[in-house]
Amino acid sequence: MSATARKTAPNAEDIRARKGSTPLVSLTAYTTPMARLMDAHCDFVLVGDSVGMVLHGMTSTLGVTMEMMVMHGQAVARGLDRAMMVIDMPFASYEHDPAHAFKNAARLMAETGAGAVKLEGGVEMAETIRFLVKRGIPVMAHIGLTPQSINTLGGYKVQGRDEQAKAVLADAHAVAEAGAFSVVLEKVPQGLADQITAEVAIPTIGIGASAGCDGQILVVDDMVGFFTAFKPKFVKRYAELGPQAEAAIAEYASDVRARSFPADEHVFPDQAPTKGPKT
Ligand code: KIV
Repeated sequence: MSATARKTAPNAEDIRARKGSTPLVSLTAYTTPMARLMDAHCDFVLVGDSVGMVLHGMTSTLGVTMEMMVMHGQAVARGLDRAMMVIDMPFASYEHDPAHAFKNAARLMAETGAGAVKLEGGVEMAETIRFLVKRGIPVMAHIGLTPQSINTLGGYKVQGRDEQAKAVLADAHAVAEAGAFSVVLEKVPQGLADQITAEVAIPTIGIGASAGCDGQILVVDDMVGFFTAFKPKFVKRYAELGPQAEAAIAEYASDVRARSFPADEHVFPDQAPTKGPKT
């Protein structure tokens, strides 16, 4: 399936132009119904590779494939009318060399209609970002805690305290100079996130960073309380839908066992009623 960019959606340059103005609002989405719910409220929606953990029960994002990203990207695109869609490049789809990254980024955009791709990495990915941008692929960078590298980072740790600060700052400058239109700062200490926001010319999107960033992003299932396996400190729970859904399922199970569901209003009489709407 091929898809074309929606005419009314903001594009990467619209997002870049929001540097220093009203904070950009973003959430992840993986399905059409969830995308529909957030379309009117978000500037951009990220089809995150967190889909592997959130919807597929994986223990990390490393097993997420191009096919999964294409399928979830197409589903999200069906739910969006006005927000921009950004899609994650999954692990091993872009790190080897810039030409390989281009092939996969172009496929994600062509088959889903996404307006940009996001990839993880700083200084080491600058050449690839430059290569993609020069060939028409807008890139959102992602630095600090990069979940695809948990095996070399030693887990989901804060990145950029003490001696590490210089390296994270260098990553931010490298991706901005390479042409990224914005950069996600994940689990970066507040002061460093504020310094990066002040120094780079592109919008910073915080997740576990600082309210001073140019925008914020959260995993939607975390903030509405559907994903309850663990709760990172940076997540604010705006709802508890997981426990509510479980209570509904338990009530249904008890109704079925007691034969109190289905009730008369849920079943069809033997004789069709003569008047009124079809039942
Ligand atoms: O995959 C994802 O959900 C992300 C966000 C957390 C930034 O990369």
